[in-house]
Amino acid sequence: MKPTLPELAPLRMDAVVNFASHKYWGVSDPVRFRALLDEARSLVTSGHFLGDNLFTWGRNNSLFEDGPFRAAWEGNIQNDADHAIAWRRYILACAGFHCVQLEGDFVECGVYTGTGIKTVMDYLGGPAFPKTYWGFDTFDYNPVPGHKFEGQEEGFHQKVQSRFAQYPQVRLIKGFIPDSFAQGCPDKVAYLHIDLNNAAGELAALEVLFDRVVPGGMVVMDDYEWAGTYRPQKQQEDPWFAARGYRIFPLPTGQGFLIKR
Ligand SMILES: C[S@@+](CC[C@H](N)C(=O)[O-])C[C@H]1O[C@@H](n2cnc3c(N)ncnc32)[C@H](O)[C@@H]1O
Repeated sequence: MKPTLPELAPLRMDAVVNFASHKYWGVSDPVRFRALLDEARSLVTSGHFLGDNLFTWGRNNSLFEDGPFRAAWEGNIQNDADHAIAWRRYILACAGFHCVQLEGDFVECGVYTGTGIKTVMDYLGGPAFPKTYWGFDTFDYNPVPGHKFEGQEEGFHQKVQSRFAQYPQVRLIKGFIPDSFAQGCPDKVAYLHIDLNNAAGELAALEVLFDRVVPGGMVVMDDYEWAGTYRPQKQQEDPWFAARGYRIFPLPTGQGFLIKR
């Protein structure tokens, strides 16, 4: 099936888009921090983006000028974090735009509520999205020590599945990665999003899936460039990729990105 590719509207040269979300992580005094950033925003040129531990200014903020993306992102916001991580979502959407034109399926390891999957699909045709989209997660519990996300309890898998009632091309596989790959796994992958919040799980996923990514296929690792708790991912993923001749692009959004040869 031919993909429906979203189009950009003609650019209005006088348009200025600012974005501010007060959802960020690792701040010791949120009230003071917010006041300081509000003041900082008043001192910079327009085109600013604030949220998800990013503060930039003098930017086009292309994500907000892409109408179909804006609709997909806004239509899938379920919490403050989904609002704040708009730029991360646009990285996924643009990767999806490229990969939907390649051979192979779409895969997300670490699905949680499914917002990452649904935003990409809604950007690229919604229920008419032309590929199988695999989502792997334990769903009903969070296997990462110290991580308990709202709603992850018995029945959660079914709840997430019901969100995709109109999307029969979505296959949500419940189970621990990598064991759950035995339940089904694509031979060819065009797009791979890994978002497991832990290095061991991510490497286990890469061991199985990376060789299946087709040339030109894209891999996005959600936490690669985040420091602190997530730094072991960089520590372990850098040598894994170096052994295969790859260097991960660290993105300002905190994601890691690469294109398969
Ligand atoms: C940050 S959430 C995913 C968010 C989602 N990618 C999005 O964009 O909205 C991380 C998920 O990874 C799952 N997870 C972590 N380690 C896993 C493993 N080894 N096997 C299966 N699921 C795992 C957790 O249950 C959790 O739902």
